[in-house]
Amino acid sequence: MSFAVLFVVSAHALSKRALDRLEAAALSAAHCPARLIRLEDTGPSLIDALDAMRAEGFGRIRVQPLGVPFPEGFLAWLPGVLADWRARGGNHDTALELGPDPARDADALRNLAAAALLPDAQSLQGVAPRLGKPGWTDPPDFEFHLLVCTGPRCAIHGAASFTHLLKEELAAAGIAERCLTTRTGCIYPCNRGPVLALYPHGHWYRLPDRAATRRFVRAVLVAGGTADDLRFHTARAARAPDQHQQETTP
Ligand code: FES
Repeated sequence: MSFAVLFVVSAHALSKRALDRLEAAALSAAHCPARLIRLEDTGPSLIDALDAMRAEGFGRIRVQPLGVPFPEGFLAWLPGVLADWRARGGNHDTALELGPDPARDADALRNLAAAALLPDAQSLQGVAPRLGKPGWTDPPDFEFHLLVCTGPRCAIHGAASFTHLLKEELAAAGIAERCLTTRTGCIYPCNRGPVLALYPHGHWYRLPDRAATRRFVRAVLVAGGTADDLRFHTARAARAPDQHQQETTP
C-alpha cells in the first residue's frame, strides 16, 4: 500500500516564500512522497489535499502536524475531521493516521532552542529605533468592512477559494475601493463556513459559492439590500432598537 505524508501547518501570517522554504525542508526530510498545506488562510484545504492524494493512489496517508507549538485546539479538532473525510463515499479504504504533536519530541525542542547558541545573530548596530512605519497610522477610507474568516474550520468548507472569489466579485462590481477586506481567524460559526461579517451593518453571511458571493456583492453592497437567505446573524447592536432594548433591560 503506497504511503505518503501530508504535513499540516498553522501559519496564518507566513509569506509564500517562507512557506515554500518550510515545504522544501519538510519534503526533503520525509523520505517518501509528501506535501504540505496550511490549515488556514489560502491554498488547498485539508479535504482538498486528502482528496488529491487519494486520487494519486496513496492508500495510506499520515497527516503530520508541523510546527512548535502546534495549536492545541487544532490537535483536538483534527481527529474528527479526518474521521469525517474517511466516512465520505469511497474514502474508507484509505488508511489514515494522525502523527504526534511535534512538541512531544523533547530532542526536537532542544534543537530548536539551540538556535540561541548559533554564532550568526543579527546585530542591531545602526538600526533606526522605530515601532512602526509612517503608513501604519491611518486606516484607508472605506464604506464597508468585510471580515472574512479564513480559520481552519472555514477552510474545510472552502474559505480559501472564497477569499479569491470575493475579491474578484468586488473588483467586477467596481466597489473594491469602497471595501476594507480583512482576513480573520475563527469568529465562531465554523459549521457555516465560509462566513463573512459585514460592518457597520452588523450582518453576518454564509457565502458557499460564487453565485452566492456575487449575489451578496450586487444585492447587499451595491444595491443596499440584505440578501436575507444568505444572512444568518445580526449583531445585537444592529438589531431593531426595541428588540435590542428588551435584551439589554434587566
Ligand atoms: S473557522 Fe471560521 S468561524 Fe471558526
